[in-house]
Amino acid sequence: MGDSVGQKVAQTVAPDQVGNSGGSFNSAVRLMFNALAPRYDSFNHFSSLGLDYGWRRATVRSLKLTESDLVLDIATGTGDLAFATTQSARGIVGCDFAVEMIRRAHAKVRPGDGTWFHVACAECLPYCDERFQGVTSAFAMRNVKPILEDVLAEAFRVLEPGGRAAILEFSRPRMAPIRWGHSFYTRLLMPRVGRFVTGTVEPFHYLYRSIQEWYSPDEFAEILRTVGFANVRYRMMSFGTVALHTGTKPTACRL
Ligand SMILES: C[S@@+](CC[C@H](N)C(=O)[O-])C[C@H]1O[C@@H](n2cnc3c(N)ncnc32)[C@H](O)[C@@H]1O
Repeated sequence: MGDSVGQKVAQTVAPDQVGNSGGSFNSAVRLMFNALAPRYDSFNHFSSLGLDYGWRRATVRSLKLTESDLVLDIATGTGDLAFATTQSARGIVGCDFAVEMIRRAHAKVRPGDGTWFHVACAECLPYCDERFQGVTSAFAMRNVKPILEDVLAEAFRVLEPGGRAAILEFSRPRMAPIRWGHSFYTRLLMPRVGRFVTGTVEPFHYLYRSIQEWYSPDEFAEILRTVGFANVRYRMMSFGTVALHTGTKPTACRL
């Protein structure tokens, strides 16, 4: 699909406006990200005020990787988290179902990076069991909320026993004054200024709504435990606007 058509649809039908049935929600998410792909990096750095670089570094550090490890970044987008991991592991595989995102990730690969990018759905990963020593995902879980348990089960399946998962996601600050400021920024200021930076406004509205509807860090930690992860912990960053959850696949899972 050409960008202009994708863009038009993305501006009129946001994923959370098509209902929550997995299929139509997924299609709308894919359309939106394919349309946003050419401006995604500026959208990302703008909406996070450039703090995303530090969040990604913290995510990589939390995996405690060794140089022999292979890592999967689920819903990698244009690959920024994958590229932030290259120095710490043997190789990184990034996958995403939006082909335009993967095209941009490919374009950033430099020789010797040890990165591979594939078009794939997070809920049906094309990798064999226990293939990776680490799994990451950044700002993607809100976008798979109707199929969250399938996506987490797939992340768990491809992780080697003893391997770690690190999941970064936006959150609603607990302290009231910070929550009001954050809400003002994400609901009112960001869409207005963001329109000038990226030429589009609907992804900013969707971002605000999806953050409001997302689980609390405690609830998400409980979901990770239900899927089978052990040692589930989280830390809040940037005044509670971002949560980094980590968990381990128990070694007792070895076949
Ligand atoms: C907000 S972006 C985050 C991209 C990247 N992880 C980052 O930190 O910049 C969410 C990504 O999730 C991808 N995505 C959403 N649902 C997906 C699914 N079911 N399977 C694979 N990718 C999905 C979108 O295409 C998009 O690239």
